[in-house]
Amino acid sequence: MSTMDFTKGKTNELPQSTDWEVLRQPIQVGKKTINNRIAYQAMEGCDGTALGAPDVLTFRRYKRFAAGGPGVIWLEATAVVPEGRANPRQLYICKETLDDFKRLCETIKETCMRENGHEPFVSVQLTHSGRHSKPHGTPEPIIAYRNPYFEQKVSVTDANIISDDELDRLGETLINGAILAEQAGFDAADIKACHGYLLCELLSAYSRPGKYGGSFENRTRLLRESVAGAVKACSSDFVISSRLNIYDGFPYPYGFGVAPDCGVTPDYTEAKQMVSDLANEGIGLLNFTMGNPYVNPHVNRPSKTGPYVTDEPAITGVTRMLTGIAEVTTAVKDKVPVICSGLSYLGEEAPNVAAGCISEEWFQVAGFGRESFAYPNFARDICKKGEIDKQQMCITCSKCTELMRSGGTTGCIIRDSKVYSPLYKQYVLKK
Ligand SMILES: Cc1cc2nc3c(=O)[nH]c(=O)nc-3n(C[C@H](O)[C@H](O)[C@H](O)COP(=O)(O)O)c2cc1C
Repeated sequence: MSTMDFTKGKTNELPQSTDWEVLRQPIQVGKKTINNRIAYQAMEGCDGTALGAPDVLTFRRYKRFAAGGPGVIWLEATAVVPEGRANPRQLYICKETLDDFKRLCETIKETCMRENGHEPFVSVQLTHSGRHSKPHGTPEPIIAYRNPYFEQKVSVTDANIISDDELDRLGETLINGAILAEQAGFDAADIKACHGYLLCELLSAYSRPGKYGGSFENRTRLLRESVAGAVKACSSDFVISSRLNIYDGFPYPYGFGVAPDCGVTPDYTEAKQMVSDLANEGIGLLNFTMGNPYVNPHVNRPSKTGPYVTDEPAITGVTRMLTGIAEVTTAVKDKVPVICSGLSYLGEEAPNVAAGCISEEWFQVAGFGRESFAYPNFARDICKKGEIDKQQMCITCSKCTELMRSGGTTGCIIRDSKVYSPLYKQYVLKK
């Protein structure tokens, strides 16, 4: 085990190991055994049908992911109500689209089995986009409370605040979404509370009155009760999971994971309590992340280039992400396996850091987002060949995010250029 220097001169805090054996180790989640320690993170392609069923490019993406042999595929943000879709092509799970999700799930499992000899563990991410809802292509925000950090670009009034009754109903709908996910054949349903979407925003709803705001118990209520309800409503073979923000990156009282009067310095006390409470409710798998991709993308997805500029060195963001995840993981140690986020920036060093962190029990499974778009065979190359191809790697150029923000269907513009370069020209360069 060694500690490498990514920052030319500064010692960094990330463990590394060139022995990748730990990445090939299986891990038990609920009643299922996951083949290896690589997860392909939720990566939305914005390419569903108008009704929210997976479409041609959705199937293409997941076939590529499945052929790439990860242990876990975290199926992208999938709305549970039409008004909570982040774009008009976001996936939407409901009775009408259930058969299409069944087909997608079967395709993923068959493809991975055929190409790699194992079935991946597939968790579908159930979401309400809240403040970032754009079901018809323009903002239709549904918010938990007024937050100035978000209201410069997209203006809202108090009328956009969702009521307690509507949140009660949303809890029921999320539980129903988990039931549908089990019927579709998935292994798990993720009650999503990350990246500033509605359940994440509630975690910092300090100023909200009523049963969903103010105290820690109230702010975490919808997540906790939805998880508890879904655990009860689904069979014991099915796992309820959650992708969670352990830190938002905004000062108190406008972000989760910070203490009063401490600026944006992380304070993981509440995150640790929250994940411990979720473990007590029977959550079977956790996936930790941070930040808000719309306002502070350097916290969520540090990158080498792109239109968003920050003074913070990208490695500082990666280090914050991984050390924060390591700290919160201690609260569920030996109880619930944890997937990490934010490794793609590390490029060819990422497998070494993933192996080092897993060996040191910082987390149990290494999650890769942008890398899966660029290099879908990444997991297979690590697990079967023991080497990676630098020419296929993600260069963290941010073009996939740019394309998505411009209203396009997204993927890797650099490594999958036949499909996505024309779309980048059409939507971003407007040629
Ligand atoms: C184009 C794009 C789509 C994404 N879609 C989702 C999503 O549907 N759900 C989610 O939780 N995160 C989503 N993310 C965030 C990633 O899962 C991941 O957290 C982020 O890219 C940082 O990890 P990385 O450094 O491995 O890329 C998306 C990111 C990008 C760039």
